[in-house]
Amino acid sequence: MAFSVRPYLPADEPGWLRCRTLSFLGTQYYDDVKPHRTAFDLPAVSMVAVADDGTIAGLIDVEIDGGAATIDTVAVHPDHSRQGIATALLDAALPQARKAGATTLDAWTREDEAANAWYLGSGFVENFRYLHVYKNGDEPVEGFTTPDGLSGPVIAFLHADIAREAEMRARFARVHVCRQYLRRL
Ligand SMILES: CC(C)(COP(=O)(O)OP(=O)(O)OC[C@H]1O[C@@H](n2cnc3c(N)ncnc32)[C@H](O)[C@@H]1OP(=O)(O)O)[C@@H](O)C(=O)NCCC(=O)NCCS
Repeated sequence: MAFSVRPYLPADEPGWLRCRTLSFLGTQYYDDVKPHRTAFDLPAVSMVAVADDGTIAGLIDVEIDGGAATIDTVAVHPDHSRQGIATALLDAALPQARKAGATTLDAWTREDEAANAWYLGSGFVENFRYLHVYKNGDEPVEGFTTPDGLSGPVIAFLHADIAREAEMRARFARVHVCRQYLRRL
């Protein structure tokens, strides 16, 4: 499939949301669904890959905080994976991030093979890891405290130190290792 990379336009929002949702559906971020596109307070580089039928096939958003840039989202429609779209989006975003003053680029991701292989193959190195822990509705509330008037949490999303991985996996069914990848620009 032919595709072209260009800056994101406000009219892209419905296609952007569809592409991101379908991309994330097959990953450990399957329930990270956004009804509206992220708005950035800081400067950001936002690019999309458009298929020849006009649909959004991929997207990247890079937020820039002085010298430190972060990939907020990179996602490729599952029907168009491994065709170089994410790489083309990154290649288009990098010069703009450098021009805006960024000297490092980082990204955070869970254990999905595609994302980890893509970051490692794109010049990133792992810099840090910690845990994303979910308490689901069936799991006990012991140890949680909540403000007066509220029940214990029915569900919860929490962070934990990587050193507690075995303990967290023993207690909670859904635990993800979240890695920070870092690349110098
Ligand atoms: C990660 C992602 C953006 C890669 O997009 P892509 O357009 O398929 O990637 P490219 O075609 O530019 O690069 C392909 C390379 O990435 C890696 N890769 C991509 N998919 C892979 C998979 N399913 N298994 C293993 N490696 C994979 C490989 O290194 C591959 O090179 P190869 O095909 O020569 O082996 C895409 O899989 C995606 O959208 N995933 C879901 C969203 C996500 O996890 N985003 C990042 C974290 S928030």
